[in-house]
Amino acid sequence: MTETSSLQEQVLRLKKDRNAIILAHNYQRPEVQDIADYTGDSLELSRKAASADCDVIVFCGVNFMAESASILSPGKTVLLPEMSACCPMADMVTVNRARDTITNFPGYKFTDGYTYPDQFTLRDMKKLHPGVPVVTYVNTTAEVKAESDICCTSANAVKIVESLDTDKVICIPDRNLSAWIAKNTKKEVIAWDGFCHVHDRVKAEDVKHARSDHPGALVLAHPECRMEVLELADHVTSTSGMLRFARSSDAKEFIIGTETGLLYNLRKENPDKVFHPLRKDMVCPNMKKTSLKSVLKVLETMRNIIKVPEEIRVPARKALDRMLAVK
Ligand code: 13P
Ligand code: SF4
Repeated sequence: MTETSSLQEQVLRLKKDRNAIILAHNYQRPEVQDIADYTGDSLELSRKAASADCDVIVFCGVNFMAESASILSPGKTVLLPEMSACCPMADMVTVNRARDTITNFPGYKFTDGYTYPDQFTLRDMKKLHPGVPVVTYVNTTAEVKAESDICCTSANAVKIVESLDTDKVICIPDRNLSAWIAKNTKKEVIAWDGFCHVHDRVKAEDVKHARSDHPGALVLAHPECRMEVLELADHVTSTSGMLRFARSSDAKEFIIGTETGLLYNLRKENPDKVFHPLRKDMVCPNMKKTSLKSVLKVLETMRNIIKVPEEIRVPARKALDRMLAVK
């Protein structure tokens, strides 16, 4: 028996003893996705966390995802295998305190010399646009969700904005997702200037190179990519949207414009099709921190509990529930 299969066996045994379920984001390492009860995009995993019948949820992803599970399932113990697994984009917006310089966040490296104004907060944004609803991407902290009107994910962002009865919305924190929303709605979108460093590094010329390397392949891009990339793509969708598209498409070859962890499931589900990363360096270091060893350890020790305090959980839950209610 290999070390991997021995660890997997131990995890599965302990998971049963603890009456736990394991949720894993589509970007997780293959061996972690393999022991999950459910893999999916942020929207699917939020729905699973809300409806799961278990005592413990082990969330293989980054901290805002485990927080959402805690917000939606306060009666369950939510464990995050790697406490330092964060989302640098989520940390680009705070409610009311000055942001730390984002270069200090673990896992984040500037690739393009981008600088970010340090002192502007969500409350400042709300003061500038009184009465305008705040639509918050789930890639945010629980505190930020608690100050928001409604959440969205990459799978439902346009639908969520369309569901509101105002002609202006504030969208935080991803400027690229906001630009994508703006392109697909008549409403005015006031965008926060955050970004995902994994997706934002891709440029139009990367799409052109990939197309010339793989002529005839379809390009699928995540809305966290820049507009110059989205405009060149054949289809723009969430990670699970890409899985669905590849499954049902007659095409045999695809260029995948999102974190490379998705390639594992794409290839597993479609052995007769070929998938290429749009750029090989589309790797989220924080998503890769979780290992079988860290999953086993939290199940053994029941440490790394993520618990959102009630005064934040209740308003944050309202924003998530409003999102989940939009069909
Ligand atoms: P989705 O899986 O919801 O498309 O999200 C992508 C992402 O970046 C999560 O961190
Ligand atoms: Fe955050 Fe981007 Fe990593 Fe997703 S891929 S967790 S948005 S840094």
